[in-house]
Amino acid sequence: MTEKKLIEKAVLAMNNSYSPYSGFRVGAALLCKNGNIYIGTNVENASYSATICAERSAISGAISNGETKFSAMAIVGGKNGEINDYCYPCGICRQVINEFCDKDFKIILTNGSTVKTLSLNELLPHSFGRDTLC
Ligand code: THU
Repeated sequence: MTEKKLIEKAVLAMNNSYSPYSGFRVGAALLCKNGNIYIGTNVENASYSATICAERSAISGAISNGETKFSAMAIVGGKNGEINDYCYPCGICRQVINEFCDKDFKIILTNGSTVKTLSLNELLPHSFGRDTLC
């Protein structure tokens, strides 16, 4: 699975975004180590804090289907679905990714013309996680 193909899946998910309040449409495509892919989009709610982000939507779907090993996630997003800047995952999503993924897990972003790949460690250094509690 190339970065480009994973981004294409994230764009498909973004097209299903339910974001009537912010108009900010996000899509995520999570690649499992076995090759399976789970997509997710942001699902907003009139009670704003009940909103779920695209990244956590994808992770919840994968975990619900019994997946446990993940290698990468592509994330795309923008106001009205226009991708013209990198859509970095929010802090809560970084923490949730950290729950299930290794430090070298790849996060693939695009601004529409260039692809940028960062490790989870780069996005969430000095993290609090499962190991901290052992
Ligand atoms: N959003 C995501 O889906 N992922 C993020 O990492 C950041 C924010 C969504 C939530 C909300 O529907 C909209 O973007 C604006 O915050």
